[in-house]
Amino acid sequence: MSRFFFVQIVAFGVSWFLVRREWNGAWVLWLALQALLALVMARMLRQPRWWLPLHLMFFPALGLLWCLHWPRYVYGGIFGFLTLVYWSTFRTRVPLYLTHRASLETLMQQVAVRRPRLFADLGCGTGTVLCALAERFPDARFVGWEVAPLPWLWAKWTTRHLPNCRVHFGSFWHQPLHAYDMVYAFLSPVPMPELWRKAQNEMNAGAWLVSNSFAVPDVQPWQVLDEGEPMPLYVYRCEA
Ligand SMILES: C[S@@+](CC[C@H](N)C(=O)[O-])C[C@H]1O[C@@H](n2cnc3c(N)ncnc32)[C@H](O)[C@@H]1O
Repeated sequence: MSRFFFVQIVAFGVSWFLVRREWNGAWVLWLALQALLALVMARMLRQPRWWLPLHLMFFPALGLLWCLHWPRYVYGGIFGFLTLVYWSTFRTRVPLYLTHRASLETLMQQVAVRRPRLFADLGCGTGTVLCALAERFPDARFVGWEVAPLPWLWAKWTTRHLPNCRVHFGSFWHQPLHAYDMVYAFLSPVPMPELWRKAQNEMNAGAWLVSNSFAVPDVQPWQVLDEGEPMPLYVYRCEA
């Protein structure tokens, strides 16, 4: 996170330095320049790709809020809402974003082929993956963990009618994975090495770890699905 704000602050300072002479309320110019500089710096510093849209939007979004002159409680409400959605993202380094429909279809095909009896979604977000799978495969059981309160509540609600689906509040790092035949994760590059260690230590031989978009560094996947697409699925076979 500190690397994110480092780029934002430097881009803020440099863009202000560049526009200050021409400053006649040239807000749009300043916002655009800051966003562009932040983007270029983030690329040069090889920051994660998924930070790039955040870099582009962060300062313009602040500028927009400033111009709207909303009362304080609106900001408080937005802050409270975002806190409940993103919760400990600064610690986990995994924000909420949802599996796309195309990836979900590919994952469904994997489940149809490999027929896991017990499936886990590590960081299940709003439960979209669990809900779709539990409906399509009523004979299998589906379990998810989520640390952020609002997505967890949403997931609980959307899966309430599915007897083969359970959603738990809390961190998946504290849950043993021995019993699972297939584990799905859509996280970020940061936890992948640790997740691979956990999977190797805890999952049985022949069990599957499927990671959406983020590969385990230096580990050859068993299969890459949707290769060349923006969101490939990396399939790993545990060899415990
Ligand atoms: C990218 S989202 C994926 C959501 C869902 N799996 C999907 O594919 O639609 C990742 C989710 O993992 C959650 N998360 C991150 N670290 C976690 C942890 N240690 N335990 C449980 N949930 C976690 C985040 O709060 C976020 O909602």
